[in-house]
Amino acid sequence: MNRLQTSLGTLTMQNPVTVASGTYGAEFGAFYDLNCLGAYVTKTITRYPKQGNPPPRLYETEAGLLNSIGLQNPGLDIFLSNTLPELSAVCSAPIIVSFSGSTIDEFAEMLDIMEQEPRISGYEVNISCPNVEKEGIAFGVDPDTVHSLTSRLAALTSKELIIKLSPNVTDVVSIARAAATGGATSIALINTLLGMAIDWKTGKSRIKRGVSGYSGLAIKPVALAATYKVASALRIPVLAMGGIYDWKDALEFFYAGASAVAIGTANFANPHAVPELIAGLDSYLQERDVSLSDIIGTVQF
Ligand SMILES: Cc1cc2nc3c(=O)[nH]c(=O)nc-3n(C[C@H](O)[C@H](O)[C@H](O)COP(=O)(O)O)c2cc1C
Repeated sequence: MNRLQTSLGTLTMQNPVTVASGTYGAEFGAFYDLNCLGAYVTKTITRYPKQGNPPPRLYETEAGLLNSIGLQNPGLDIFLSNTLPELSAVCSAPIIVSFSGSTIDEFAEMLDIMEQEPRISGYEVNISCPNVEKEGIAFGVDPDTVHSLTSRLAALTSKELIIKLSPNVTDVVSIARAAATGGATSIALINTLLGMAIDWKTGKSRIKRGVSGYSGLAIKPVALAATYKVASALRIPVLAMGGIYDWKDALEFFYAGASAVAIGTANFANPHAVPELIAGLDSYLQERDVSLSDIIGTVQF
């Protein structure tokens, strides 16, 4: 019996552990066998190549990490011709492609192209990007836009359709509901919070772009609250992330209602974080003679 098995919408995963978009690559195969993953989530891909933001674009704070990478990626065509085959050669876990567009049409065009690729098991839709048709306001802050985008994409695929939410909204449940009614099969949360750091000696921003994305240890309580709110309000599986470093952190998210978790910033601190987390979780469940499904959403008050 596999105590760690979980399902995320249409996907059955051998264990509930995946990796947070943008924090991981096939190079982790130098540390361990990538087949240990429950699923592999890629860095966000855009239709055309993106250079990303100028440095400095990473800064470690006392309790987390600031980044303003700016979706640097080779674009969809190179991803499909080079990155995906390279990844498929070393990883047989389900591959979920994170992608982003600047209009609803562009998101749909990208998904349509990716539908031809049998090695892709699902999509994580990054909606934290600016919508060029709506004055650059991020897609993810407006429930009507999220609903329109999700329903457009859901009509084009029967693969796993994960909508990844930003925490930088007033009511995360209303955005998740818009995605769920639009046809999302699961919800990923949370993307980075907004953060900033300044060198008090020089007055200079630690990150060239100023305000950037904040992740890691400090955001765990925020991610846990968002997970609990969405998982308890809606009947949709949640892929949770935000400050998960070890199996104990992951357990908190399962009690809050997550069906699977993703490891992000922790990969930078400990390249073995993923296999260690899987092993720790397995031992915990075995000692108590329970399955993961017995504890999901069972937080007590
Ligand atoms: C360096 C870095 C790059 C990231 N790039 C992406 C990205 O391309 N797409 C995306 O959806 N999220 C991206 N994220 C956000 C993570 O996937 C994740 O949602 C967030 O960091 C919270 O999880 P964590 O605290 O475990 O890192 C990035 C985060 C970091 C630290």
